[in-house]
Amino acid sequence: MDINIQPPEKEPERQFYFMELAAKLREEFEAKKGGRATYHVTTFGCQMNARDSEKLAGILERIGFIEDQSEESADFVIFNTCTVRDNADQRLYGRLGHLKGEKYRNPNRIIALCGCMMQEESAVEKIKKSYPYVNIIFGTHNIYKLAELICIQGLHTGENTGTGNAFPTTAGIYGCGMVIDILRGTDEVVEDIPSVRKYPFKSGVNIMFGCNNFCSYCIVPYVRGRERSRKPKEIIREIERLAADGVVEIMLLGQNVNSYGKGLEEEVSFAELLKEAEKVEGIKRIRFMTSHPKDLSDELIEVMSSSEKICRHIHLPLQSGSSRILKMMNRHYTKESFIELALKIREKIPDIAITTDIIIGFPTETKEDVNDTLEVIDRVGFDGAFTFIYSKRANTPAAIMEGQVPPEESRRQFDRVLTAVQESSRKRAAERTGRTEEVLVEEMSDHDPDFVSGRLSSNLVVHFKGEKELIGSIVRVRLDECRGFYYIGERVI
Ligand code: 5AD
Ligand code: SF4
Repeated sequence: MDINIQPPEKEPERQFYFMELAAKLREEFEAKKGGRATYHVTTFGCQMNARDSEKLAGILERIGFIEDQSEESADFVIFNTCTVRDNADQRLYGRLGHLKGEKYRNPNRIIALCGCMMQEESAVEKIKKSYPYVNIIFGTHNIYKLAELICIQGLHTGENTGTGNAFPTTAGIYGCGMVIDILRGTDEVVEDIPSVRKYPFKSGVNIMFGCNNFCSYCIVPYVRGRERSRKPKEIIREIERLAADGVVEIMLLGQNVNSYGKGLEEEVSFAELLKEAEKVEGIKRIRFMTSHPKDLSDELIEVMSSSEKICRHIHLPLQSGSSRILKMMNRHYTKESFIELALKIREKIPDIAITTDIIIGFPTETKEDVNDTLEVIDRVGFDGAFTFIYSKRANTPAAIMEGQVPPEESRRQFDRVLTAVQESSRKRAAERTGRTEEVLVEEMSDHDPDFVSGRLSSNLVVHFKGEKELIGSIVRVRLDECRGFYYIGERVI
């Protein structure tokens, strides 16, 4: 590719052009540094962000950066941020504050911020004011543009290389050496951007972006934009490529996979997509995340129950067991309909693990509402749950609702819910004692150097004696001893 010509307009060609150009900047940087240019990506938040980080790493490696395990010593540091709750925001500010001290020791370091939090104007304003040493800010819609942004910013080499602002972009705002490129919304889905997988044998696969549900507490629809599905053909092509590259487990990712396919030229349901994904040779396990209870179809339950590859696990966020609170949350289901759905899934797919998310302390929530949540936990018997104290997010409808719950009361109710879900998860896990199940071996165990760890189809973790050669393969393991939320087992040959 000739990089003296104007950058192509079309994606992803345009980005490959900038990756080459950025590689030249990297070479200049390395000549001055007298060593290799390194990067570190820190991910906050959900699976979606984790997958985006793999794409960021893929672009950086294509440019020629090598990974540095440490955020402090890397030349190029990216924070892929989350803003779903306030504590995620606070964690980022903490890390940035920490790097400030470090920054003076490494004036060449480039700090880039991206992800959900950057889609919020108030957060960007705060960073401009309080953390002016941040170099690049971009959002969730333009992850694929990292190389282009690096070219705009240039790489520091102790002096200004003069490469900054060489290629102004349409949405760029320039000031105080910070390159900011936030898109408020886009329909564009750019395919074929390189990525580096954290695990060689498993990978996330985005099937859709954004969310249209507007649950009243949630900031995601504002920061990730409207729902857009990738074309089934593109998804299957990616899965085929992953399989050819040694991947055996895929996780299909979307904020609400049950509404996959809406708005596509050729409408396809999520269940149909799963059927296609199943046909890909080499793929042995399929997971997906997240399912909204309001539109989980019988067709999906049917496809899951008759599948050999779809894992026996569904993440089905309850949020609250009180129908009154669910209505205020804009969730479109009730306590009764949730219980009915969960029990139907259990009946049709024996052995399935159902996990959930629960929010405690939503505006006006009383002890009686929490009693309803406890009742759902009891009736459904969750295999696992993430419990969160409600966090007020700016500009969401719930933020201005009357009856915000005092933190000490939320904490008290939170403890009741936590105790119940822990008990339920322990009980469900223990039911498998003595059974022999398939385990995908993922890594060496951190419990014992002679042990490896892996996951059951239900997503439960198992540690058993084994060598590192087993990593990436599926083996049969007898589940001997349940230790709360994981098992110690023994391989059965
Ligand atoms: N406060 C607390 N928890 C929240 N979640 C989303 N928004 C908020 C909020 N404002 C939780 C929900 C969701 C999970 C990813 O995060 O339970 O399912
Ligand atoms: Fe947020 Fe609700 Fe969309 Fe999930 S479904 S991302 S909780 S708005």
